[in-house]
Amino acid sequence: MDLKTPEDSKTTLTDLVLPGETNPLNNLFGGELLARMDRAASIAARRHSRRIVVTASVNHVAFNKAVPLGSVVTVEAKVSRAFKTSMEIFIDVWIEDRESGRSTKANEAIYTFVAVDDTGNPVPIPQIEPQSKLEKERFDAALRRKQLSLVLAGKMNPKQATELKALFE
Ligand SMILES: CC(C)(COP(=O)(O)OP(=O)(O)OC[C@H]1O[C@@H](n2cnc3c(N)ncnc32)[C@H](O)[C@@H]1OP(=O)(O)O)[C@@H](O)C(=O)NCCC(=O)NCCS
Repeated sequence: MDLKTPEDSKTTLTDLVLPGETNPLNNLFGGELLARMDRAASIAARRHSRRIVVTASVNHVAFNKAVPLGSVVTVEAKVSRAFKTSMEIFIDVWIEDRESGRSTKANEAIYTFVAVDDTGNPVPIPQIEPQSKLEKERFDAALRRKQLSLVLAGKMNPKQATELKALFE
């Protein structure tokens, strides 16, 4: 299987925040942002694996900044690490300033997707080689996050989470 880079899966979705997508403070509703991030992550996972992909876990979401009604929001997703059948997707969310056109980072999230066959069984995916400094940092920390996610889901015994244990030694 070909070795891929995070850039190969890069997916950028830009859209407005419209009435009906906001909370009572007129900021983007959290669930709407989660859906946009899930869509972008799903496309990135598909571009990496060229397979059917399903969301296995939402590992982390940080709603750091509110996104006001009328904002232009860009959701950028890239595969940060590929394991055997699962992949971690890192999602950065940007808001574009109307006057300057400059983008500022508003939120970020980390999702896990699994590539599956027509019957929903996990299938192997290509490996990934990070290129930039940021991609390497995200790649290096991904195994720790996978172990944490599996422990929290009750799918891994904490005693086997070697990367997590190393954090506290
Ligand atoms: C995701 C799914 C395919 C995993 O199936 P499974 O029986 O747990 O399969 P496995 O145990 O072989 O796990 C497959 C991979 O997913 C990873 N995985 C499973 N659950 C995970 C979790 N909570 N966090 C991180 N990784 C997870 C496993 O570590 C494994 O990774 P690897 O092969 O890269 O090492 C299955 O649970 C599923 O189909 N879930 C529903 C998905 C869906 O419908 N999503 C939309 C939500 S409505």
